[in-house]
Amino acid sequence: MSNPSLLILPGDGIGPEVMAEVRKVIDWFGAKRDMAFDVSEDLVGGCAYDAHGTPLTDETMAKAQEVDAVLLGAVGGPKYDTLDFSVKPERGLLRLRKEMDLYANLRPAQCFDALADFSSLKKDVVAGLDIMIIRELTSGVYFGEPRGVFKEGNERVGINTQRYTESEIARVARSAFELARKRDNKVCSMEKANVMESGVLWRDVVQEIHDAEYPDVELSHMYADAGAMQLTRWPKQFDVIVTDNLFGDLLSDLAAMLTGSLGMLPSASLGAPMANGRPKALYEPVHGSAPDIAGTGKANPIACILSFAMALRYSFDKGDEATRLEEAVNAVLADGLRTADLLGEDGVQPVSTAEMGDAVVAKLDASL
Ligand code: IPM
Ligand code: MG
Repeated sequence: MSNPSLLILPGDGIGPEVMAEVRKVIDWFGAKRDMAFDVSEDLVGGCAYDAHGTPLTDETMAKAQEVDAVLLGAVGGPKYDTLDFSVKPERGLLRLRKEMDLYANLRPAQCFDALADFSSLKKDVVAGLDIMIIRELTSGVYFGEPRGVFKEGNERVGINTQRYTESEIARVARSAFELARKRDNKVCSMEKANVMESGVLWRDVVQEIHDAEYPDVELSHMYADAGAMQLTRWPKQFDVIVTDNLFGDLLSDLAAMLTGSLGMLPSASLGAPMANGRPKALYEPVHGSAPDIAGTGKANPIACILSFAMALRYSFDKGDEATRLEEAVNAVLADGLRTADLLGEDGVQPVSTAEMGDAVVAKLDASL
């Protein structure tokens, strides 16, 4: 049997630096756990634009469709801010999501024990926090038509369209209920049914899928603005949150920051199963390309490393190995190792991106 295939797209800014550390981890699993991957690497984002005049070539898109999983670093940077919308680095990422039909974006917000003091909230509000936001990723206002800036009389009007079909809502709701069953069996769905028709439909469909297929799961509904408030007030009331593309974008940044460490959080974007039974999948850190620190060795590689742990769990059915990797990260943090984004404790000297990666690999060794 051939090895499972991985396409690595390091992207821009700190993407290549953090991905270099993930490569060490992938190599470790190949060498020590008999889990070799066929790894290929390609361009996405600004670097693809520089090389090819487009943030994602058709060839790279086709490769992404064929592999078992895609691992992405980050895209974007100030150098590309003035580019036309159609070729901005972000379009490369959005095209991958859309054409691979990665409709369920899993964004865990977990507070690492060693880092509970880093949150801007009180320690008892966040200690032990473990919630999962499932963001719909292929529809809604990100993709709805009509969109654009148009002339209306003698002024311009900017238009985007929030649009959801029943089946788009139903499939992401199912993802949320399935995942909840493996966790604390609770789903909170967030929309703005008080002002948006698409929110009314969202609420109805989530409720219908629940009643027909998942009556055992505890379901609640919340307006997304109240959800933001509740997330900062007492986040531990939540287990799984399911929400649309735009609210999910906002709420997942908010939830990530509750943990005090945006540089720590991974994500998985999953689509329908392929012929081999694995879901179409792309894994990426929640953080961006951080151009201000790119090339300085200050970046935290943990979010990207944990994204690979999610790949082990959700694409390759290796939950035990994913846990091994997550525990290695926890052990490194418990030892007091901190990259520059995690400073604040007295007398702690930051370690570099590469030192953090090496330390994780050393803990993996120690786990055998
Ligand atoms: C995210 C990012 C992206 C988004 C950008 C880079 C297009 O903010 O993944 O959350 O808005 O979805
Ligand atoms: Mg975002």
